[in-house]
Amino acid sequence: MIKIEHLRKQYDNAIPLKDVSVEINDGDVIAVIGPSGTGKSTLLRCINLLEKPTDGHIWIDGEEITARRCNLEKIRQKMGMVFQSFNLFGHLTVIENIMLSPMDLLGKSKQEAYDTGMRLLRTVGLAEKALNYPDELSGGQKQRIAIARTLAMDPDIILLDEPTSALDPTMVGEVQAVIRDLAKTGKTLMIVTHEMSFARAISNRVFFMDEGGIYEDGTPEQIFEHPRREKTRRFVRKLKVLELNIASKDYDFLGMASQIEGYCSRNQIPKKLASRILLAFEETVGQILVPALEQPRVQAVVEYAGETENAEWTIRCNGPRRDPTAADDALSLAVVRGIAEAIEYSWDEGEELPNRLRLKIRHT
Ligand SMILES: Nc1ncnc2c1ncn2[C@@H]1O[C@H](COP(=O)(O)OP(=O)(O)O)[C@@H](O)[C@H]1O
Ligand SMILES: [Mg+2]
Repeated sequence: MIKIEHLRKQYDNAIPLKDVSVEINDGDVIAVIGPSGTGKSTLLRCINLLEKPTDGHIWIDGEEITARRCNLEKIRQKMGMVFQSFNLFGHLTVIENIMLSPMDLLGKSKQEAYDTGMRLLRTVGLAEKALNYPDELSGGQKQRIAIARTLAMDPDIILLDEPTSALDPTMVGEVQAVIRDLAKTGKTLMIVTHEMSFARAISNRVFFMDEGGIYEDGTPEQIFEHPRREKTRRFVRKLKVLELNIASKDYDFLGMASQIEGYCSRNQIPKKLASRILLAFEETVGQILVPALEQPRVQAVVEYAGETENAEWTIRCNGPRRDPTAADDALSLAVVRGIAEAIEYSWDEGEELPNRLRLKIRHT
C-alpha cells in the first residue's frame, strides 16, 4: 500500500502539489488525468523519489520513504517507472537492455536474467527482436521493450507517465495492449494518460488533478459519467466535445481537419466513424454553408458519447434563414445523407447564429 500524507512539492515558480493526502491500495490501477501542468508527473516522481518532496510523508508498505534514513535502493526496486521517452541504451541489444538491472541490482545470474528477459519479451510480443539494437525498432516496439525492462525488476508498483504520448498514432494500440495485460496482473499501477477511453477501460480508480492536488478521486464511472466537482465536469465535457469556430471565408480548413482527426484519435473513435465525422464537416461546412455566406460565422461542435453511440454534429451559422437540407448543392447533400442517420434543421430566432443544423452520424 502507498500512503501519502500532506505531500507538498514546491518549485521556484510553481507549487504543483500543495497538500496531497491519499491511500493507494495494492492492485489498484489508477489513471491520473487532468490539464497539463497540474502536477501529474510531479506526483509520480515524488512517489518514486525522483523528486524530493518539499513537505509531507510517503509510506510504501508501511515503510516511510520520505524518512531521512531509508534505503532508497531497496525502495526503488519495488517500483518501476516507464516514461514518455524510452531511455533504452543504444549500444546494448534489446535483451541486454533488459538483463542489465536484474544482474547489476538484483544480483541475478546471466542465465536467470536471460530467461526472465526472454519470457518478458514474449509477453510483449517482441521475442524475435532480442538481438536487435533499439535503433532498429519502431517507437511502439521500443516502448514495449521499456515496459519489459521495467517488469524484469519484478516491481510491485509500476508508474507510467504518458507512455504512449510520444508515439505515432498507429503504434499507440500495441503499447496500450501491453499495459492492458499488465493491469490484470494484480500489480499496483499508476498511469498518467490523455487517452480517456483507455484510462477508463483499464483503471478501477481515477485521480483528476487540478488546483495543486487530487481534485477528484473516484471510479472511472463516477469521474467520466457523474463527476461531482465543477472542474472535473468541465474537463470531462471538453474531452467529449470539440468546438470549431469559423469567422471568415479564409478559415484554416486543414488545421480544422487535423483538429477533428486529433479529437477522433483522443476519443478512440473507430476509423470508419472518424472519417464520416470529417466528411460531414467538409461537406456541410465547407461545401454547403460557408460558400453561401458573404461573411460566414460558423460554430461547429461534434460530440461522441462512446463505444456504440453515434457521433453528433451541431453546426450553427449566421445569415438569413436557410434550410441546407433544401440546398442546391445536391452532391454534398447526397453525401451527407449517406452518412447521417438524421439531419435536422432549425431556426433559433434571436440567436447570433440562428441557423442550426444537427447531424447524427451513423457509426455502422
Ligand atoms: N523540475 C522542475 N522545475 C521547476 N518547475 C517544474 C519542474 N517540474 C515541473 N515543474 C512545474 O510544476 C508544474 C507541474 O508540472 P508537471 O508535474 O510536469 O505537470 P503535468 O505532468 O500535470 O503536466 C508545472 O507548472 C511545471 O512547470
Ligand atoms: Mg506530465
